[in-house]
Amino acid sequence: MVCFSFIIAILGLLSVPSLCSVTSPYSSYILAPPSRTIYADKIYAVNGSVTNAKSLTEVHGNAIFKGANSSVTYDFGKNVAGLVTFVVQKSDKEQTIGITFTESSMWISGQGSDATANDGVDEPLWFTVSGPGTFTPAPEYERGGFRYMSVILNTTGTVEISELKVHFTPMPHVADNKLQAYEGYFHCNDELLNKIWYAGAYTTQLCTISPVRGDSLQASQTSGNPYHTIYGTDIWYNNYTITNGSSTPVDGAKRDRLVWAGDLAVTIPSTFVSTNDLISAKNALQSLFVAQNNETGCLPWAGFPFGRGLCSFTYHLYGLIAVANIFQYSNDRNYLSEYWDQWKFGMNFSLSAIDSSGLANVTSSFDWLREGMGGHNIEANSILYFTLNYGLELAKYMNDDSVQVDYANKMRGIKEAANERLWNATAGLFNDNDTGFTVNPQDGNVWSIKSGVADVDKIQAISSSLRTRWGTYGAPAPEAGAAISPFISSIELEAHMIANQSQRALDLIRLEWGFMLNDPRTTQSTFIEGYSTDGSLHYPPYSNDPRVSHAHGWSTGPTSTLTFYVAGMQILSPGGAEWLVSPHFGDLTEAAAGFKTPLGSFSSSWTLKNNKLVLSFSTPKGTKGSLPLYR
Ligand SMILES: *[C@@H]1O[C@H](CO)[C@@H](O)[C@H](O)[C@H]1NC(C)=O
Ligand SMILES: *[C@@H]1O[C@H](CO)[C@@H](O)[C@H](O)[C@H]1NC(C)=O
Ligand SMILES: *[C@@H]1O[C@H](CO)[C@@H](O)[C@H](O)[C@H]1NC(C)=O
Ligand SMILES: *[C@@H]1O[C@H](CO)[C@@H](O)[C@H](O)[C@H]1NC(C)=O
Ligand SMILES: *[C@@H]1O[C@H](CO)[C@@H](O)[C@H](O)[C@H]1NC(C)=O
Ligand SMILES: *[C@@H]1O[C@H](CO)[C@@H](O)[C@H](O)[C@H]1NC(C)=O
Ligand SMILES: *[C@@H]1O[C@H](CO)[C@@H](O)[C@H](O)[C@H]1NC(C)=O
Ligand SMILES: *[C@@H]1O[C@H](CO)[C@@H](O)[C@H](O)[C@H]1NC(C)=O
Ligand SMILES: *[C@@H]1O[C@H](CO)[C@@H](O)[C@H](O)[C@H]1NC(C)=O
Ligand SMILES: *[C@@H]1O[C@H](CO)[C@@H](O)[C@H](O)[C@H]1NC(C)=O
Ligand SMILES: *[C@@H]1O[C@H](CO)[C@@H](O)[C@H](O)[C@H]1NC(C)=O
Repeated sequence: MVCFSFIIAILGLLSVPSLCSVTSPYSSYILAPPSRTIYADKIYAVNGSVTNAKSLTEVHGNAIFKGANSSVTYDFGKNVAGLVTFVVQKSDKEQTIGITFTESSMWISGQGSDATANDGVDEPLWFTVSGPGTFTPAPEYERGGFRYMSVILNTTGTVEISELKVHFTPMPHVADNKLQAYEGYFHCNDELLNKIWYAGAYTTQLCTISPVRGDSLQASQTSGNPYHTIYGTDIWYNNYTITNGSSTPVDGAKRDRLVWAGDLAVTIPSTFVSTNDLISAKNALQSLFVAQNNETGCLPWAGFPFGRGLCSFTYHLYGLIAVANIFQYSNDRNYLSEYWDQWKFGMNFSLSAIDSSGLANVTSSFDWLREGMGGHNIEANSILYFTLNYGLELAKYMNDDSVQVDYANKMRGIKEAANERLWNATAGLFNDNDTGFTVNPQDGNVWSIKSGVADVDKIQAISSSLRTRWGTYGAPAPEAGAAISPFISSIELEAHMIANQSQRALDLIRLEWGFMLNDPRTTQSTFIEGYSTDGSLHYPPYSNDPRVSHAHGWSTGPTSTLTFYVAGMQILSPGGAEWLVSPHFGDLTEAAAGFKTPLGSFSSSWTLKNNKLVLSFSTPKGTKGSLPLYR
């Protein structure tokens, strides 16, 4: 430990009136558009004969497409989503205009959009044009994520287009001019980290959709297998109703547009510290709890209509964790009461898997598309331990003493058995389970730290063994082939922070999220769901690369980690009645963050120069907390 002197200014406890301005601090980093009507940023490519192509990046353009396969690919400069509209001024009879979309520049084509199905690509939107008019596809053809949009003339005549715009559809429940109204902020002296924080926040926004525009998989699923195709491309549309309410978080902006509880484990904290949009998360959770299996208590692997009746040991627990997170961030006791019986019923399902070893023997091994998550699995048992710990807290707020003894005993059993049966001293990591020694998984090891399952004397070994495995493009997840999973790596960031290895956490953000943000094949604004250890944008569970989602909420871990650990403002009890200010410095010299709960505003800000720390923070009147400091 390095010793240093420090000066602390405690603002909140003196209840200084807040110097609040209309926009949140650092709002210039926000990627969400100021209004829902958006135009392309620039031209990426022109093919054939198009006059004045660039004019369509502005309100009153006028571009003339002439001859077959004349096309323009527009670049929005970042990932966006919505419903396209164009105005035709003049046209020859019976012309065909096609529009295609893609998140990655790798799939730009006049023949199709990137994919939502397991093979092929998605068909272009086709419009028959014979004269002046405004052309807008049916609302189910809103495209959930694209940075590039191509306009193609598929016939041999001439068409004059005067306006080309997109109605931005994410976050449908907020006013048209409030997409940038974040309640939280972050800033530090590393521009890359700042951009990553805001790209994470924006990713969660793109993944918050209208519940009636869900399930991009339905077209490929309902039309049978092989996929229903025209012109060699797959039909696509988004119109399944997946939740109640007017907004919901889904896994990915383009795909699957379904509620998956696992994704919420990363999405909800990142949303809380940025937009603080908890109502959407509540809608998502409701859709899982209404589908709880009334015999077993298991929540569905995914929300409507997918995965009905499918049970995943871990995703079930993620659903229970999400309720606890929403309660913690909102301080909404009615919300917790509403679900408490179902929560305990759900926990009974998980506990019923515990056998004489003290560990749960997982038989419902669906997970985040990793292999072999069965038996006495370390990830599943760590998540169970973590959820039981939440259960003890929740029971306290519910004045329910019926579960305390049981939950605490089960936790003790899991911890003892996991450390005894699953630890691999040679690897300095846990094995996947007690019959499989070939994989020391990333998911189970990071969760063993996050949950508190790992004995204190194992934490440093795990953190350093995980560090040793990083490659050129990030932290590997050997339990999922050659995958790099920004989902599990999001939890790895927290594991290093908990191990007091803040430098490692910052290094991993720069390595893995820096790659995702800067690589020209990505959207450079939102985070991809997964890729390969060799840096190819191939996510091992899928055979069809155009299918990979480039805006996945589960990849946004740095947003919450930078706020909670680097700026160091954490809430420990519902609404932040108790808090902790505990910065983790790494190699940074300054950081600041803030967020809100119904109790008020929380913020912390520090500079560290010449071993002198100046820290100020602010918390709502009547709350209390502590300030442990270490490097
Ligand atoms: C347009 O391009 C496609 C793909 O290269 C090609 O199959 C088609 O024949 C072209 N159309 C015309 C009219 O040249
Ligand atoms: C434009 O031409 C390039 C090079 O042939 C091709 O790769 C690209 O797909 C074309 N763009 C469109 C929208 O057809
Ligand atoms: C687009 O052009 C191709 C090649 O000329 C043709 O086969 C196809 O039918 C056209 N599609 C539409 C929707 O007009
Ligand atoms: C969804 O959209 C498709 C394509 O337009 C349509 O065939 C289908 O009937 C729609 N389904 C619902 C539930 O609206
Ligand atoms: C919507 O709410 C109704 C009643 O409030 C409930 O019966 C239904 O299951 C809910 N649907 C979803 C998808 O959450
Ligand atoms: C339990 O769920 C099944 C299947 O969804 C349903 O048919 C049955 O009515 C439910 N039973 C009760 C008691 O709610
Ligand atoms: C959970 O299981 C315990 C012990 O079997 C039982 O007493 C309790 O009623 C169950 N709770 C719920 C909500 O099903
Ligand atoms: C146990 O872990 C190994 C990897 O070491 C895996 O191959 C196997 O499938 C796992 N067992 C079960 C029951 O999932
Ligand atoms: C877990 O349960 C399954 C099914 O009952 C059983 O076949 C398997 O042997 C058990 N695994 C362990 C490690 O006890
Ligand atoms: C430890 O893990 C390695 C793989 O990293 C494996 O080869 C070895 O068998 C494991 N040892 C034990 C004792 O589980
Ligand atoms: C991290 O540092 C704090 C303060 O020195 C200490 O209380 C805690 O035990 C450390 N955690 C680990 C895992 O070493």
